[in-house]
Formats: sequence, structure tokens, C-alpha cells
Amino acid sequence: MFKNIIKTTAFAATLFMMACGGNSTQEQEQVVNLYSHRHYEADQKLFEEFTKETGIKVNVVNASADELIQKLELEGENSPADVLFTVDAGRLHRAEVKGLLQPITSDVLNENIPANLRHPEGLWFGLTYRARVIAYSKERVDPADLSTYEDLANERWKGKVLVRSSENVYNQSLLASIIAADGAEAATAWAEGMVANMARAPKGGDRDQVKAVAGGEGDIAITNTYYVGIMLNDSNEEERKAAEAVGIFFPNQNDRGTHINISGVGVAKYAPNKENAIKLIEFLSQEKAQKVLAEENYEYPVNAKVSISETIAAWGDFKKDSINLAKLGELNSEAVVTFDKAGWK
Ligand SMILES: [Fe+2]
Repeated sequence: MFKNIIKTTAFAATLFMMACGGNSTQEQEQVVNLYSHRHYEADQKLFEEFTKETGIKVNVVNASADELIQKLELEGENSPADVLFTVDAGRLHRAEVKGLLQPITSDVLNENIPANLRHPEGLWFGLTYRARVIAYSKERVDPADLSTYEDLANERWKGKVLVRSSENVYNQSLLASIIAADGAEAATAWAEGMVANMARAPKGGDRDQVKAVAGGEGDIAITNTYYVGIMLNDSNEEERKAAEAVGIFFPNQNDRGTHINISGVGVAKYAPNKENAIKLIEFLSQEKAQKVLAEENYEYPVNAKVSISETIAAWGDFKKDSINLAKLGELNSEAVVTFDKAGWK
């Protein structure tokens, strides 16, 4: 009996020591906590590569940017978040206005990212950009009939337009750019015209709209460029076939240019691992990571030393709408209200 007690005590002591050992390792472990709206396989691969190079583990919390911003606000000074990663400049702007970000000075970032794609005081940095384009049926649409986003609201496209829900930030930013270019009244009329022209009630993501064009449900889809890039190179034949059935058209080439948005990051105001946060962002702006974003996620890299993937290069160069992307953030609420008024689900 006595012997047993000794044994048990020794065992407990061993466990206790193991636990202590475990704790001290955890304290030494380098981490960076990332709040991300992004949903792409290439990102995970990059984070693993970053950990391999630096020993810093990347903890990712995935949710929509609105949810993440709300989480940052609620957590306040106690937030574990180091970096906020969004798929639009509007949300970075919103986080900035709410005082949730802190300025970063980095020669690496200043060199790798053009000035127009980052905040002047270093509150946020674009890492890639993407264009919102028209994917048209090669069989049924003559691209000579395409011109602008505005024209998609023209009666002649009745029953032919496929586009996702207005809850999606990509559409909100697009409408914000139309409000900025054409004014509130014209933007409302545009949204109403689009609803009247829809081939079906909005459902699914951008890829689903492309598939619906391929399946003959409509003739024209609005999509971000990288989705078509991913589909064209998908191992699944069905995805490839759907993307091969559409042509890519860059709207508004004769006026303001095609709507683009960035995907970018900011360092959280109370980042507990600020140094690691900067290391991660610098890593993502370097040629190696930018190449992965360009080649595997078919985004346009911000780093000028990196070329775009062959797939999207085939669509040619295009004129980009040069509106300050922060403006789209300012107009976001107005865009949401306009969608509601127009009945765009
Ligand atoms: Fe996306």
C-alpha cells in the first residue's frame, strides 16, 4: 500500500514536470495571430512556408471582415489579433476609421508595394489586387456588344445576367464605384435595371455564376478574375469546361476603367506580437510569396518584380478604375441601402 502511494506520487510529480516543461515551451513559441477574411488554399501554403522559414506559427481565425472587425472592437486592448487580412480596401478603411489598426514603418513594404496600394501612413497595405469583370458566353455573346457595367442594366440583357448576392462585399464595392462615378440616382437606376435583367435570383459565389453561364442559365456573369483563373486550372474537368465556355471582358475601358479592389492587411492596434506581424506581412510582399499568390491564386501581385500568371496574362492588359479605394469604403453603407431599395437580394 505504502509502496503504491510512493509510486503514485512519483508518477504525479513526473506528470507535473512534463506539464511545466510543456508550458515553458509554449511561452517560448513564436506566434502571429491572423484574423482573415480570405478563403484560399494558397494562403495556407504560404503560412506553412513562413513558419518553416521563421519558426513563427500562424494562427488563423477565419470569418467575414465585418465579423472580424466587430471581434476586434469587442476585444479591445485584450485582443490576441496581430494582423487583419481582408479581401477589400473598404474593410481596411473601416478598421482604420474605428482606430483598430496601428501604423507600420517598413522599408521592405515601401519598396515592394506601390504607394497607391498602401495607406500613406502605413495603416494598411495591399498585397494583391483583382478585377471585377464580365464573363460572357463565347457561344451566345459577341464581345463587341459589351461595353460597360452600366450597359448591363440595358433592357437588351433581360433575363441574361448572372450575379451573386448584394450581401457580398465585391458587389458592394462595385456599386460604390458606380455611385462615385455616376451619382446616387444613376446608381439606383442601375441596380434596378440589373435586378430586372437577372437570369435568376442571386445565389452562390462568383464561380457559380460562371458555371450558370456555361450551363446556359444566362449569358453574362460578373466575377472576380482569380476565380476564373482557378477554374481554368482546376483538376476537376467540370470546373475547367465551365471556365473555358466563357470569355473575359474588362468593362469601362473607354471611360474610368475596370473596377479593381485589393486584398490587404493591417497590423492590429494592440497586436501582442507586432514584430512577428510585420515579419509576416513583409514575407507576403516578397517575390516568393507574391509568386504563389499570382501563380496559384491567379491574383495580380502588387510587387512589380513578380509577373502575373500566364492564365490571366492571356486576357491582356486593361485600364483600371483609379478611384481611391478608401472612397469605396466610405460609400459602402450607401451601396448597401441602394441594393436594398432596388430589391437586389
Ligand atoms: Fe474571393
